[in-house]
This record gives sequence, structure tokens and C-alpha cells, in this order.
Amino acid sequence: MSIERVGIIGGGLMGSGIAEVSAKAGAKVVVHEINPEAAEAALGRIQRSLARAVERGKMEENERDQVLGRISVSTDIGEQSDRQIVIEAATENEDLKREIFAELDRLVSDPGAILASNTSSIPITRLAAATQRPESVIGMHFFNPVPVMALVELVTTVKTSPQVVGQAEAFAEMVGKTVVRAKDRAGFVVNMLLIPYMLGAIRMFEAGHATKEDIDSGMRLGANHPMGPLELTDFVGLDTTKYVADVLFEEYKEPMYASPPLLTRMVEAGLHGRKTGQGFYDYR
Ligand code: CAA
Ligand code: NAD
Repeated sequence: MSIERVGIIGGGLMGSGIAEVSAKAGAKVVVHEINPEAAEAALGRIQRSLARAVERGKMEENERDQVLGRISVSTDIGEQSDRQIVIEAATENEDLKREIFAELDRLVSDPGAILASNTSSIPITRLAAATQRPESVIGMHFFNPVPVMALVELVTTVKTSPQVVGQAEAFAEMVGKTVVRAKDRAGFVVNMLLIPYMLGAIRMFEAGHATKEDIDSGMRLGANHPMGPLELTDFVGLDTTKYVADVLFEEYKEPMYASPPLLTRMVEAGLHGRKTGQGFYDYR
């Protein structure tokens, strides 16, 4: 089956990137957002990312226009009904995602359509259980920034059908990604390892072991990471990092997954990182 009609729920950091790579691969994409302001912001993110590709000489202007012409952003979830795959990339909140999956189950008319979640951590089985078609539900975990990062984690539940796994893998390859497979355990492969590292850096900063700049330079220069852990937390979003840590802590009850008080306070204060202009660093 070739996938030509893609739906994305949530046009934030991740949803806008998934929409972009899907449209670049030739699919027609409808992004669903909660209100006109969020829809406009989603379109703005896609436009800026494509403008950057043109500036860097990676894309011609006419290709950018064609890609943009294949993407629409809507606040009417009914527009998802004819999609062959819908990828949910809304805020990392289980109740919200379960509501979205229940709604997609009612709406999406093709019983063979793939219902995927880009969740960073929430077990896919719980999202599948909100639908009457758990065999169609799969985790497709992209990485930030989506146009650059090569990986998709494919997360299957005991109920996901082999046909859906094969089609989701083919779609990930169609948008230029390499797949690794993970069982349905909170955090899958990458975040189970990455989140304790990021939380460890926040604890180190909170305890006064080193300045934030030195923690970040240490890991950039000493371990050749492209970003230090506090810069990376700003990049991922402190809110998302905390939600993911909470899901991991709930699943494993290990102290290494517990959100440090500093992270919790910063999220409560609205310091969500780059996307709000302030996190560990100031981007205003
Ligand atoms: N969209 C499109 N392209 C982008 C981009 C974006 N948002 N950001 C960067 N790029 C491209 C640039 O165009 C550039 O491409 P060329 O070299 O071909 O011109 C390339 O990426 C490098 O960009 P820059 O030179 O501007 O900046 P950089 O060298 O500092 O790289 C970075 C930026 C790619 C983001 C790099 O810092 C990086 O890899 N950081 C770590 C990212 C990471 O670890 N992501 C995973 C987060 S965890 C996650 O996603 C899972 C989860 O569930 C939380
Ligand atoms: P974000 O805060 O940038 O965007 C979330 C978007 O979802 C917002 O634009 C919001 O308006 C929208 N939204 C909320 N409720 C909605 C609803 N009912 N219908 C439609 N849209 C809705 O967050 P993000 O970083 O893009 O994260 C989205 C998902 O991707 C989360 O599950 C997150 O864990 C996961 N993820 C994030 C990263 C990362 O580095 N930030 C990486 C991989 C996966």
C-alpha cells in the first residue's frame, strides 16, 4: 500500500517536523491543531524550517512551494477521516492522547488505516485500549529535529498486527528514516537511556557541582555530543522532559527517573526551554 494521505494531530515541535518530512516524501498532509492561533503557529514552524532548507541550498524554491502546497493545517478533526495513517503528536499527556485515539477510532473510516503515536514514553497498549481497533495502533517515535534526525523507534504491542508493523516501517523508510524496534515498555530504547542522563545533569547543576555552561561544554567537548545535556533539555522542552520522566518513574519506580525539584519548579514557572524563550538559557 502506498501512503498518500497523512494526518498529524498536534503541530508543535514534533508534529510540524513530521508533517514536513511526510510532504517532502510526496504525501498530502493534514495537521490538526486545537485553535486558530495554534494552527497558525504550526504553519509558521513548517514555513520557517522550509525557508531554512532553501537558504542552506538544500531545497529549491519551487520544491518548497510544492511541499507547502501538500500541507494544510486545520482545527476540524473531521478532516482526518479519510487518512491512511494518522500520527498523533500532541502534548505528552496520557488522558489527552487516549481521548484523541478514541476520537480517531470513531472518525477514521478505513479500517486498515494506521493509528500511530509519537509519544516519547507512554505505553502504546494504553492508547490502543482507548480504541476498538488495537491491531491498528503502533508507536512511531521520531526524534527532534525531525528533518535532521535519522531514527524512528517502532513500538509494537502484543495486539499490533504484522501488516500494520510492515506498513509503518515502509512509511518510516519512505520519509527517509531508519527504524529500530522496541517492545512496549515506557521510554522504549532511547529515552530509557537519555532521560536519566538529562535528569542527572539537572541534579548536578542543582547541587552546584559545576556551572551550566561547564556541564554543557564538558559533554560537548569531552564526549562529542552535539549539544550539552542542559541545552538538550531546553531543546526538547522542559515540560516534555518532565512528563516523560514522570511516566518512566511511574513504570520503573527507580530514583534515576524522578524529576529533580529544579525541573519541576521551572516547568511550573513556565520556563519550558527554547519554545517559550527561556529555560536553562535565555533565547529571547
Ligand atoms: N530543521 C531542519 N534542519 C535543521 C534543523 C531544523 N529544525 N535544525 C538544524 N538543521 C540542519 C541544518 O540545516 C544543518 O544542515 P546542513 O549541515 O546540511 O546545512 C544541520 O542540521 C546542522 O545544523 P546547524 O549547523 O544549524 O546546527 P548544529 O550543527 O548545532 O546542529 C542540531 C543542530 C542538529 C539540532 C544538533 O545540535 C543536534 O543534533 N543536537 C542534538 C539533537 C538530539 O539529540 N535530538 C534528540 C532529542 S531527544 C528526542 O527527540 C526524543 C524525545 O522523545 C524527547
Ligand atoms: P509541543 O508542546 O511542541 O507541541 C504539542 C502540540 O500539540 C501543541 O501545538 C498543542 O497545541 C497540540 N495539541 C494539544 N492538544 C491537542 C489536541 N487535542 N489536538 C491537536 N493538537 C493538540 O510538544 P512536542 O515536543 O511537539 O511533543 C509532541 C509529542 O511528541 C509528545 O508526545 C512528546 O513526548 C513527543 N516527542 C517530543 C520530542 C521532543 O524532543 N520535544 C521528541 C520526540 C517525541
